[in-house]
Amino acid sequence: MVADSIATTERERRLTSAPDIPIHERMASIAGPAVLDVQNFSAYYGQFRALDGVSLQIPDRQITALIGPSGCGKSTLLRCMNRMNDLVDGFHCEGRLTYHGQDLYDKKVDVVEVRRRVGMVFQKPNPFPKSIYENIAFGPKVNGIKGNMDEIVEHALRQAALWDDVKDKLKQSGLALSGGQQQRLCIARALAVQPDVILMDEPCSALDPIATLKIEDLMKDLAKVYTIVIVTHNMQQAARVADYTAFLMMREDRAGELVEFRDTDSLFTAPKDKRTEDYITGRFG
Ligand SMILES: Nc1ncnc2c1ncn2[C@@H]1O[C@H](COP(=O)(O)OP(=O)(O)OP(=O)(O)O)[C@@H](O)[C@H]1O
Ligand SMILES: [Mg+2]
Repeated sequence: MVADSIATTERERRLTSAPDIPIHERMASIAGPAVLDVQNFSAYYGQFRALDGVSLQIPDRQITALIGPSGCGKSTLLRCMNRMNDLVDGFHCEGRLTYHGQDLYDKKVDVVEVRRRVGMVFQKPNPFPKSIYENIAFGPKVNGIKGNMDEIVEHALRQAALWDDVKDKLKQSGLALSGGQQQRLCIARALAVQPDVILMDEPCSALDPIATLKIEDLMKDLAKVYTIVIVTHNMQQAARVADYTAFLMMREDRAGELVEFRDTDSLFTAPKDKRTEDYITGRFG
């Protein structure tokens, strides 16, 4: 079970003892240890193949961006990383996706535990229609996280750079906050259950430029402790925040494939694939 093995096993050991592919090959594209390792991964909605044969590693405590034209499978790939797609009727996948060496799609895996460790922040801020305090306290309560709840709430709000904005109105509705504050509340809510990875699907697309920069600064801060994967349509944003960037594209049959995955600077300044170059220079997409 993920809960047991991940709580007790040391990261590197899990990584090196995991899949059948030599470690030097899996690590070829990233500098440090991988938290999530995607190997020859395909995803289907019914008969439709949304992703085909994607392989990449998400490095520990770095920001990795997924970019590419609409419909190329960015959200699908992101949602596979915490098994959110299980909720979609007709979804299935092939290949291997490991989290600290543990096969995420193994039948024995505890999906609730996966989603606690690999949290998600969505495009549109979606606070619960509850107080700011309750928005944060809900997850720790449900997950049986021990400790003083007031402290847990304050800590999560501080981590999300929201404490100063809301410390005097914790009883007010989360929905009464501005869009940018609501998104930081959702980030705080994700942090409160003590995750390891935070997945963000276009977290700034509903925000103005100032709120966007705040979230970007926050992401850079959080990446000192957490592993972050962000889907973004905004290439400047990927260039500003991401350490690594993956460019995906749709083939003629509309299946998404990974075209290029490298450190962000190299991807944007010296793309190896002509399709990457065309995309980042605005020739399509
Ligand atoms: N729940 C679903 N049921 C059926 N097909 C889906 C579902 N979600 C996504 N798809 C299809 O899978 C493909 C990839 O979709 P996905 O949402 O992953 O793309 P995306 O790269 O995130 O696009 P966008 O940039 O527009 O958000 C698309 O063709 C889409 O229509
Ligand atoms: Mg999407």
